[in-house]
Amino acid sequence: MSLPQRFNLGIVGCGQMGTSILSGILNGEVKRQREDQPGWTVNHIFISVQSASSVDRLRNLLSQHLPRVTIYQSDNLATIQNSHVVILGCKPAQMHTILSETGMQEALESKILISILAGMDTKSTQEAIIANGHPAEQPESQVHVVRAMPNIAAREGASITVVASPARESDRDAVQVTRWLFNHVGKTQEIPECQFDLIGSLAGCTSAMFTVAIDGLLDQCVAGGFKRSEGLQVITQTLLGLAKLLEAGNHPAALREEVSSPGGSTIQGLLELERQGVRSAFASALGAAGERARELGRK
Ligand SMILES: NC(=O)c1ccc[n+]([C@@H]2O[C@H](COP(=O)([O-])OP(=O)(O)OC[C@H]3O[C@@H](n4cnc5c(N)ncnc54)[C@H](OP(=O)(O)O)[C@@H]3O)[C@@H](O)[C@H]2O)c1
Repeated sequence: MSLPQRFNLGIVGCGQMGTSILSGILNGEVKRQREDQPGWTVNHIFISVQSASSVDRLRNLLSQHLPRVTIYQSDNLATIQNSHVVILGCKPAQMHTILSETGMQEALESKILISILAGMDTKSTQEAIIANGHPAEQPESQVHVVRAMPNIAAREGASITVVASPARESDRDAVQVTRWLFNHVGKTQEIPECQFDLIGSLAGCTSAMFTVAIDGLLDQCVAGGFKRSEGLQVITQTLLGLAKLLEAGNHPAALREEVSSPGGSTIQGLLELERQGVRSAFASALGAAGERARELGRK
């Protein structure tokens, strides 16, 4: 695989997640330039979406960057033909239609296709590309499919993106490029593909799950006469602080014990969570999300 130092990036399907990644890459680029980090450079960005309203939304959002961004309405083929690396950011159900468009297999030859689609494994993505054609005879002309799962914090440059380890040695460089790109929007971690449905859900879905806990806490703040907005400020800083403590290597169980003084209020709160089955509810919630990801891949 030979990728130019300055490569063109394509994004096929640029809704909630695609836009978060795009914003993160454009903002992260400025930061990287300031830090003068070596590596690849994204040259031109090609985007395709389905509706005229999405084209307008992206034109407004990217008004500062328009000289180096081209937005197509429903021209996935042109997006891919013009790009060296492509992020597939549509819904899982749209993947087969998009990848089986006429000319797609040729357009993707030797390129890197990064799929962020829940449930779609590397093998089924490769099969969707060759559904109407023939497998590339030369290994060097095969598409390099990489599976990645970011989360919504990409918008703030704070995602964790899990990236599947390459099944073939020839895909190793493609995984490196994927990690380089997603490091613009946070951190990346490589995991075996066999664990991707579960751990991809851990990366992609748990922010939403934590918001349910936040809502419950805020309800009680309001019931206790405190403004929701002010309660949210307290919780936000608490979560940032907890993240820093975990990042510094503190174990969650050790932290819990440290703040639970004998006869104190924290232990009463923790015991109530256990009575309500919150620990197993979170475990089951992650299991359900992982199972749904697996189902999406089977459809
Ligand atoms: N949302 C998350 O937190 C999250 C986290 C990790 C991974 N993901 C994955 O990211 C993917 C996208 O999720 P999302 O929440 O960003 O969905 P979304 O907001 O609905 O975005 C889907 C995008 O695909 C475009 N699209 C639809 N049909 C298309 C077609 N035939 N050709 C080209 N583009 C087409 C849509 O264009 P229009 O808007 O014009 O219809 C839209 O831009 C999903 O596969 C999901 O599994 C999401």
